[in-house]
Amino acid sequence: MEQVPQVDHIFEAFAGVGIVGQLLAAACPRAQIWAVDLDEACVQRYNEALAGRGKAVVDDATEYIATWNKPNWAASLDFNKFTLVDVTARVCWRTALIDEVVTHRPRWLHIGDSACKYLHLNWKGYGIRDGHILTYLNKLDALASELWGFWIWRVGRHNGAAQMLLLPKRPRSEWQTRCDGNLEFYWKT
Ligand SMILES: C[S@@+](CC[C@H](N)C(=O)[O-])C[C@H]1O[C@@H](n2cnc3c(N)ncnc32)[C@H](O)[C@@H]1O
Repeated sequence: MEQVPQVDHIFEAFAGVGIVGQLLAAACPRAQIWAVDLDEACVQRYNEALAGRGKAVVDDATEYIATWNKPNWAASLDFNKFTLVDVTARVCWRTALIDEVVTHRPRWLHIGDSACKYLHLNWKGYGIRDGHILTYLNKLDALASELWGFWIWRVGRHNGAAQMLLLPKRPRSEWQTRCDGNLEFYWKT
């Protein structure tokens, strides 16, 4: 999250209990975070955890973002399940949410991807030639740039998921990589 372009507002589609919300608040100290969650108990826990830096309400993410009108903003979509299949199939609400988000022109997008945990087992289902994470990222990147005009810029992968930051600008470099224990980082400049 360090070096993320600074924004005044962040839309957080899936507030949960505020773990990502606190990371967003630290990464963008000037930003006000506007979060939603369908679960009332999550909304309450989120608001306690963010202590005023972020405000969550009970709402559906796609309905909420449809009326968004704030400038200089970014979007965080920590799906509990999201993979390349959602993008290729394009029949689910997850891609409809991203479609709606990008029409409001955020400065960056955070997406949580759940495919990476079992990529070594499931890679054939994603229509890629092997189970290497960069093979997966390259296909997702090609689709995201074609459909939404966003390119993958930073990825952090751990046991459970991969967290990705995308920018509306094609990076210049190829992938660079770093490993730190069971954390893997992939980025472009
Ligand atoms: C992976 S969790 C988010 C975790 C959160 N980022 C955190 O750090 O605690 C996904 C959350 O999305 C919520 N959710 C699922 N569908 C939703 C929707 N359509 N609109 C808003 N929230 C939704 C669920 O209630 C759940 O709390």
